[in-house]
Amino acid sequence: MPKLTVLDHPLIEHKLSIMRMKETGTKDFRQLLSEITMLLAYEATRDLPTYEKEIETPIAKMKGRFISDQKVGIIPILRAGLGMVDGFLAVHPTAKVGHIGLYRDHDTLLPVEYYFKIPDDASERELILLDPMLATGGSAIAAIDCLKKRGCNNIKMVNLIAAPEGIEAVHTAHPDVDIFVAHVDEKLNEQAYIIPGLGDAGDRIFGTK
Ligand code: PRP
Ligand code: URA
Repeated sequence: MPKLTVLDHPLIEHKLSIMRMKETGTKDFRQLLSEITMLLAYEATRDLPTYEKEIETPIAKMKGRFISDQKVGIIPILRAGLGMVDGFLAVHPTAKVGHIGLYRDHDTLLPVEYYFKIPDDASERELILLDPMLATGGSAIAAIDCLKKRGCNNIKMVNLIAAPEGIEAVHTAHPDVDIFVAHVDEKLNEQAYIIPGLGDAGDRIFGTK
């Protein structure tokens, strides 16, 4: 059964509302994306395996809990996913980073792949795809297809905003991939932009428009 986790939290709603505002500039946009990604990273790594080891505090002995050596890889979908890398690494500094370059063709709205580089041992890792926007789901599905083709089958998806259409499409194509989002918006417009959304995430992160 595919799982969707929506982070329902006042801090996230507050930060996301500032990001959505058209007058919010690149510097604040990046900073807020990073901060929300840290909170998403906590949730997406909640099921990491742990083990107990005896430790000693200045007061007493106790069983401390540590993360087992489950290796994690994060895979930002270029460009906009890059804006989530620092935030994720702040929470999980030992994660390795791969990159998948995809852009949506403006006419066909279909994803076009232009770059692919992932860690050599990616198939042994839990992989977490990062992309602020899940719109039609075309880019996410293409990225997951690329990873599965290379034998990577332990995959999660982390987004800032998702459209119901994108969630449905990813869950239909890849029911084994759990999705974590800060917010689910209303729908897509005719150009497949998320309504109300925040516009073009890549342009807002990199200031290209
Ligand atoms: C955006 C976004 C996703 C994709 C989502 O990237 O970052 O990757 O669109 O749309 P979809 O769910 O309909 O595929 P874009 O194609 O604008 O590329 P960019 O990040 O390089 O600007
Ligand atoms: N990509 C974006 O950056 N924004 C949208 O609303 C849809 C796709």
